[in-house]
Amino acid sequence: MYRHSRSPTSRQPEAPITTQLKPASWSYAEEFIAEDEVLTAARARAAEVGVVPIGNGVGSTLRFLASVLDARAVVEIGTGTGVSGLWLLRGMRPDGILTTVDIETEHQRLAKQTFTEAGVPAQRARTISGAALEVLPRLTDGHHDLVFCDGDKREYAAYLKEALRLLRPGGIVAFDNALWHDRVADPAQRDEETVEIRSLGREVAEADGLVPVLLPVGDGLLVAKKEWTPEEG
Ligand SMILES: C[S@@+](CC[C@H](N)C(=O)[O-])C[C@H]1O[C@@H](n2cnc3c(N)ncnc32)[C@H](O)[C@@H]1O
Repeated sequence: MYRHSRSPTSRQPEAPITTQLKPASWSYAEEFIAEDEVLTAARARAAEVGVVPIGNGVGSTLRFLASVLDARAVVEIGTGTGVSGLWLLRGMRPDGILTTVDIETEHQRLAKQTFTEAGVPAQRARTISGAALEVLPRLTDGHHDLVFCDGDKREYAAYLKEALRLLRPGGIVAFDNALWHDRVADPAQRDEETVEIRSLGREVAEADGLVPVLLPVGDGLLVAKKEWTPEEG
C-alpha cells in the first residue's frame, strides 16, 4: 500500500486550467459512440417516469471498463430504466451477471423490458428491489469486478464503503454525476448533494490503496481502481 499525494484542492485558484476545446468538440466526443434503438427506447421510458439516465459518453465508458476488466460480476446502484445496465452488460463477458439495485420496482420493471428488447438472457440481469444500503450488505465480499453508483447522491460515501468491500483487488468503482451540473467545482454551492459529492471526490483522491481518475465525461464520472496489495501480487 502507498499513500497518494493528490488533492483536488491543491491547485491555486488564481491559476485556472482552461480547455481549448469548443463545446462542439465536447458534443462530438459525447456522441462519438452512437446508441441503438433499444437504448433510445429506454431513454424515452426514463423521460416518462422522471428518471435521468447516464449520457452516451458515460455509457460507452462503462462498457469499455467492463470489457477491459473482462467482468463476470458487476453491481449497479440505481437501475433506472436500464440504460446504464445495458451498456454494462454489453461490455461484460457473455456469461457475466449484472446485479442491479433500485428502490423503485416500477423502474426495474422498465429496465427488464430494456434488457429483454436487447436480447439479454434473463439470468444475466439480477434485479433486486430495495434501498441500496439495505441490499448491498447482503452481497458477497470481494466477488465483484465493477461497482457502478448512480443512486441517491447523499449516500455516495456509504456506497464507496460498500463498494470497496464488494470489489476484488484490481476491481473498479465508478460514480456518475461527479461534477453534479457544474456545482461541485463551484465552492459557493453548499447544498447537501453537492457537498457529499465534493467530499467523496476528496476521499477517493486521497485514499490509500485506490488509483483514482475524474473523467470529464457527461456530468463527470469518478473512477477508482482498488489496488492489489503486495501479498496478492
Ligand atoms: C439517476 S437514476 C439511475 C439511472 C440509471 N443508472 C441509468 O443510467 O439508466 C437513479 C435511480 O436510483 C434510484 N434510487 C434512488 N435512491 C435510491 C436508494 N436509496 N436505493 C436504491 N435506489 C435508489 C431511483 O429510483 C432511480 O431509479
